[in-house]
Amino acid sequence: MKRVYNFSAGPSVLPEPVLQKAADEMLCYGNSGMSVMEMSHRSKVYESIIQGAKALLRELINIPENYKVLFLQGGASSQFAMIPLNLMGKTGKADYIITGQWSKKAAQEASRYGKVNIVASSEDKVFSYIPDLDGIKFDPDASYVHITSNNTIYGTRYTRLPDTGDVPIVSDMSSFILSETVDVTKYGVIYAGAQKNMGPAGVTVVIIRDDLIGNAMDITPTMFNYDIHAKNGSLYNTPPTYSVYVLKLVLEWLKCLGGIEAMQKINEKKANILYDYLDSGSMFKGTVVKKDRSLMNIPFVTGNDELDSKFVKQASEAGFENLKGHRTVGGMRASIYNAMPVEGVSALVEFMKEFEKNN
Ligand SMILES: Cc1ncc(COP(=O)(O)O)c(C=O)c1O
Repeated sequence: MKRVYNFSAGPSVLPEPVLQKAADEMLCYGNSGMSVMEMSHRSKVYESIIQGAKALLRELINIPENYKVLFLQGGASSQFAMIPLNLMGKTGKADYIITGQWSKKAAQEASRYGKVNIVASSEDKVFSYIPDLDGIKFDPDASYVHITSNNTIYGTRYTRLPDTGDVPIVSDMSSFILSETVDVTKYGVIYAGAQKNMGPAGVTVVIIRDDLIGNAMDITPTMFNYDIHAKNGSLYNTPPTYSVYVLKLVLEWLKCLGGIEAMQKINEKKANILYDYLDSGSMFKGTVVKKDRSLMNIPFVTGNDELDSKFVKQASEAGFENLKGHRTVGGMRASIYNAMPVEGVSALVEFMKEFEKNN
């Protein structure tokens, strides 16, 4: 069967050369005589895989020496608890900016462990914008400020960061990481589930500044303590071995492509193809404020639920999958992560033009 163009918000499309390489190495990795799935995580050969993945991530994102890279499990959702458990003990409070369902969930979880202060929210307009960052009063006594860099469901993204003074910024980059360049030194913690831009579900990446490790609350379960994972090089227990291996293949692919700067240019090109059409056509419209538009997740609507359903159905029949929007926004959403080729977005726009003409 022919592969479709997969616009899923996550787990999502992976680069074809990565899938091909994983297939080639499925039965026998290198000279090991076994699949990566069958290997001890303490073996020399696996050590080279996990260390290689870490080194590549450091190189690609330009992660400074005073940050640790951790490969954890439990998805970004576990970080909603790990962040406060490890960081909030300092002052007992943290500031959260609410820009969608995921930051809302992060704030709710954190409120189990201390005082959560919602300093700004865009819920009044169905999260269709990023709040005015200059108007926010941050608490200088907060342990951290939590943001969600890219809002997967609503299709908005931060294009600059708030000034939080000495208070570290913690960011959920699940649908943002590797899509554009970031200055890691501006953050205390960056975390992301892998299943959008990095690889298969199962591994969660945490990039954390050294001084924020080692302050966990007494109630913190061992497996939720960053210090334990940092001291054990992400091998305290069995890591998600195969997911880390595929992550390494994705990073090798990205490096070959020219790294994140090159990727960002391609991502901007892809997003512009779709946004330009949404801005010029008459049937489909984008749903968010222009200046805050995401490069990764692009929601759009016709304004007519029946027509939306018809579009999603016909698109699927034509080989464009997973375009149905999130139930809170309705309409459609095209997630165009790193692995979605430019041709996939162009083909989608051609299909939308055809649909517009026929309806
Ligand atoms: C921005 C964001 N944060 C958190 C999550 C939850 O991630 P996980 O399923 O890995 O827990 C998602 C999932 O789509 C997401 O998009």
